[in-house]
Amino acid sequence: MDLLDPIRAFLACPTPARWLEQAASALPVLLQDHANCEKKAAGTAMNLLFRYSDRTELQVLLAQLVREEMLHYEQVLEIMQARGIPYRPVSAARYAEGLRRHMRQNEPGRLVDVLIIGAFVEARSCERFAALAPCVDEELGRYYTFLLRSEARHFEYYLELAGKYSPEPIAERVAFFREVERELIETPDTELRFHSGPPA
Ligand SMILES: [Fe+2]
Ligand SMILES: [Fe+2]
Repeated sequence: MDLLDPIRAFLACPTPARWLEQAASALPVLLQDHANCEKKAAGTAMNLLFRYSDRTELQVLLAQLVREEMLHYEQVLEIMQARGIPYRPVSAARYAEGLRRHMRQNEPGRLVDVLIIGAFVEARSCERFAALAPCVDEELGRYYTFLLRSEARHFEYYLELAGKYSPEPIAERVAFFREVERELIETPDTELRFHSGPPA
């Protein structure tokens, strides 16, 4: 699938096979965490919309992104309801915090880093949907394949905005977060989450 070529080139590593096996056999928790991730993706973008009101391109691209993430949230909730999966509290993965703790605190470094982190989260989600699609039932596989397209666009939005608002080339910063992201994805994890590492 050529849609995934830029995503695979952007990420340092593919999803480990052992994560895929574990995820496919634990769909209720995976779906609950996925629903939480969609809501958080919208929330993160909404925070940026309020914090950077004067950045027009950011307003335009992230307003669309928020709308799409909330639609995904509704869709995942529908799938859970149709399957009789009740809401259950699921703690956050170490992933987002593991990336965010490296964020610079001064502007525009802070904004540029949040946008680069956003690009990695979107790219990884996209890569995971593609990897999961053949490992789950047909209905869910179809839905994950449908999600690829919008996540691929979201990755591009974030990367484009990071380049636009950075006073210097972003390649070095992207390379730094690529390595942090790889480690979070490849290091064993104690609990399964949408962005967790392989089972410990
Ligand atoms: Fe989404
Ligand atoms: Fe997204």
